[in-house]
Amino acid sequence: MSFDVVLDRAHRIALRFLAGLLERYVNARDPSPPLLASLPIDPSDPIDVLNALDALIEAGGIASPGPRYFGFVTGGSLPVAVASDWLVSAWDQNTGLHVMSPAIARLEDVTAAWLLDLFGLPPDASIGFVTGATMANATALAAARDEVLRRVGWDVERDGLQGAPRVTMIAGAEARSAIDSACRLLGFGAARIVRVAADAQGRMQSDGLREALGTVRPPSIVCLQAGHVNTGAFDPSPELIGMARGAGAWVHVDGAFGLWAKAAASLRPLADGVEHADSWAVDAHKWLNVPHDSGLAIVAHPAAHRAAMAQTASYLLPATGERRDGMDWTPEASRRARAVPTCAVLRTLGRKDVSDLVTRHCDRATQMAERLRAHPRITILNDVVLNQVLVRVRSPSGATITCDVVARIQQDGVCWVGGTTWSGQPAMRISMSNWSTTSDDIDRSAASILSAAR
Ligand SMILES: Cc1ncc(COP(=O)(O)O)c(C=O)c1O
Repeated sequence: MSFDVVLDRAHRIALRFLAGLLERYVNARDPSPPLLASLPIDPSDPIDVLNALDALIEAGGIASPGPRYFGFVTGGSLPVAVASDWLVSAWDQNTGLHVMSPAIARLEDVTAAWLLDLFGLPPDASIGFVTGATMANATALAAARDEVLRRVGWDVERDGLQGAPRVTMIAGAEARSAIDSACRLLGFGAARIVRVAADAQGRMQSDGLREALGTVRPPSIVCLQAGHVNTGAFDPSPELIGMARGAGAWVHVDGAFGLWAKAAASLRPLADGVEHADSWAVDAHKWLNVPHDSGLAIVAHPAAHRAAMAQTASYLLPATGERRDGMDWTPEASRRARAVPTCAVLRTLGRKDVSDLVTRHCDRATQMAERLRAHPRITILNDVVLNQVLVRVRSPSGATITCDVVARIQQDGVCWVGGTTWSGQPAMRISMSNWSTTSDDIDRSAASILSAAR
């Protein structure tokens, strides 16, 4: 079968799905959708296979790219992002080496420069185009681990961690689990992280960091957060980074979504000072609204970044040099050209509309908080400084009924909100990051949430 027929069918399925997102029941209609039970012996018609995949998503898919999905921090996909992502599959360029696709290597270089400019980060920092913020944290922290050990005379790339000087990892009590995951992958152990107390918004407290730094000696790494996953709050970077630097620590910032605040003038003060860190993790698939999977590992010390990631083999050598080999900056070798949708969105929106996109979501979060605050038994638990709204609902007798309300909202299917725990009690998270969410969507969703609360 030719590409024509198969891609044409895929195109029609995709268009129907995308058009349906505006009104689609947001939850899965069938949480255990039908699937072929066993691998067939005989071949199938590719069109039948596409139709079966369509049926699978119709029943069990979630309208997470739609305007009223407020779960996790999910983002959406702008039309040019979806279209260019299709081209990525059609072109199927391997971005591991410059020699395998000079065009994409060049595109990655240019896109990296645009991103550093938008984020106000050092222009000579390096960027690895990885799968998401979890992998971006792991990649940047691998560079951090190797460099802080190199500074005390230990070559971890050659000799590994056994017998190495101990590296102290310091993170906020409210650091996202991606930092734990990186610590597990990198051999630090999640339980060994020195935790610094957080304030009521989840921000690392400076007294706590001062105390922690007083008890450790280099090599050490301090992980800060720009954008708490529940509250959207930012660790106070200028003070904390100054302190950590004074103690000789490498400073890493997990800014999976919050780093995008740097792209909007009105929000930039929230992230003041993060540019002085040594490394950053951020997602494009969250706030830039490109399809999954697209994260960015950014390191202010390219030599350390490359030393931690690059592979060497005789057959790889001819292509290395000044030109970009994508595999020098990511844990993978072969890799799809995932920078393409990021480049396409940045070029389409320009600086101004990236700023508008981010600002608009924060306005929607404020609108949602205002609507919900009107209910006497709903409490907004956070200062709504960014795109996150954290909510608790009580019954007339004062009992927390947040979990039941979340389940009811999900069942209702007008919008989708998730649950979390905040100050030891259940809470509801409402996160704005989809380009297509309108003010009407907020009103409709607020009505559904209020009705569930009643
Ligand atoms: C602060 C923070 N770090 C890391 C992550 C993980 O990102 P990803 O799912 O892209 O790996 C998230 C996801 O919400 C996050 O909010």
